[in-house]
Order: sequence, then C-alpha cells, then structure tokens
Amino acid sequence: MIMPKHVAIIMDGNGRWATKKGLKRSEGHIEGAKVLEKLAMHAIDMGVEVLSVYAFSTDNFKRSKEEVDSLMNLIIKYFKTKFEKINKKGIKVIISGRKEPLREDVLEAINNIEEKTKENKKGILNICLNYGGQEEIIDGAIKLAKDIQNGLDVTDFKREDFYKYLYHELPPIDLVIRTGGELRLSNFMLYELSYSEFYFTNTLFPDFDKSEFNKALFMFENRDRKFGGISEKNN
Ligand code: FPP
Repeated sequence: MIMPKHVAIIMDGNGRWATKKGLKRSEGHIEGAKVLEKLAMHAIDMGVEVLSVYAFSTDNFKRSKEEVDSLMNLIIKYFKTKFEKINKKGIKVIISGRKEPLREDVLEAINNIEEKTKENKKGILNICLNYGGQEEIIDGAIKLAKDIQNGLDVTDFKREDFYKYLYHELPPIDLVIRTGGELRLSNFMLYELSYSEFYFTNTLFPDFDKSEFNKALFMFENRDRKFGGISEKNN
C-alpha cells in the first residue's frame, strides 16, 4: 500500500455531534479527544510518520468563554495524564501555534508533554493549538527576515528552504482529511498543504473511527499525484 508520510486532520463536527445527542458541546470535544488518541496510535501503526491535527485555531477564541475554558481544561488533562499510551507507543508529541494568549497552565502542560515525549522515535503527533496557517507563514517570514538582516544570502532560497522557518520542520502534507461536511481549509497549515490530496467526509469527528480513516488512506492510494507534471500512472 502507498502510505502518505504526513496526514493532517481538520477535526470538525464535535459540537454538532453533541447537540444531536442532546449533550453539551463540550461533551463533543471530550469524545473527539478519545477519537484523536485512538487515531494517532492507528495512523502510526499503519506506517504514517506524522499526523497533524487542528485542535484549536487562533479564531476559536471567538467562542464562548465556557467552551474555550472547557476545551483548554480537556487539553491539559490529556497532556498531563491521558497521553500515557501515546508515549508508551513511542510517539513524539509536538505543538504548533502561538503562545499568546494561552493560559499559563496550558503552556505548562504543553511543555510537560513535549519534554516527556521528546526522545520518542516511532512517529510524530503534531497538535495545532492556538494555530493559524497565515500566522505560521508570517511568523516564519519574520524569522527569515532576521536571518537576512544577520547576513543570510537568499539568492538561491527555495520553497523547500522555508520549512525550517515554520513552527516545526515537518515534511509536506500528503493527505488532508476534513470531517463534518464543510468544504474549506479554515486557515490550516497553508504552506504545508500546497500539494496534498483532499479527503472531505460528512462524518462528524467523534464518529470518525479507524475504518473511516482507512477509507481516506484507500482513496489516497488510488489518487494520481502529478505535482504539476504529467501522470506516471496514465502515461
Ligand atoms: C471543531 O468542531 C473542533 C474543535 C474546535 C476542537 C477539536 C478538539 C478536539 C477534537 C479535542 C482535542 C484534544 C486534545 C487532547 C488535543 P466544532 O466543535 O466546531 O464542531 P461543529 O462545527 O459541529 O460546531
């Protein structure tokens, strides 16, 4: 099977899943976190090297304080205690996003999980938290500008060279999945998504289980990736 090296997921539909069941929106996020844990282990078992997930965007701060607080508390709980299985499996957890205006206890939990898993080599779970794709490019451009001020020669600077100015130097995304039925990118990993295959599904994230993930892998295997050139499969 042709396996994507880097898969990204826009985990959408937690709120609708909860509302449909007569539960509070925060219950949807709790269920989503359980699914995320299972999917991360599964993806790495399947041979995916990096799984990136959109846990909280810079724009999600526009939501009610109650929802933001409960999501942050859930994330702290997972980072501090619940990711033990992920750690035992050898998965390195990294966080992408801006620190401002995250709470002190969230920053501490981020530090905690990154430190605990930093030597793990089996695969990477990249959690985008207080993340924006345009913000990542701006932050990278500022770092690059500083290097140029310090004498970096950019005569032969290539698009591949910009990856080291992003939050983490990860490979380009091969496959992006969005659950929950919306057909948009919502400012997610814009630089890394340039040549990725898209998989959109109406399934709400709490229902997106291993077999749903495998359907996306299967679709990927059957796509003809051309990278702006000519198909190798059909020529
Ligand atoms: C979007 O669905 C989802 C989010 C804003 C949060 C996603 C977070 C998780 C799945 C949990 C993360 C946990 C850890 C440990 C990192 P929505 O609530 O906007 O759904 P809706 O479109 O149905 O309202």
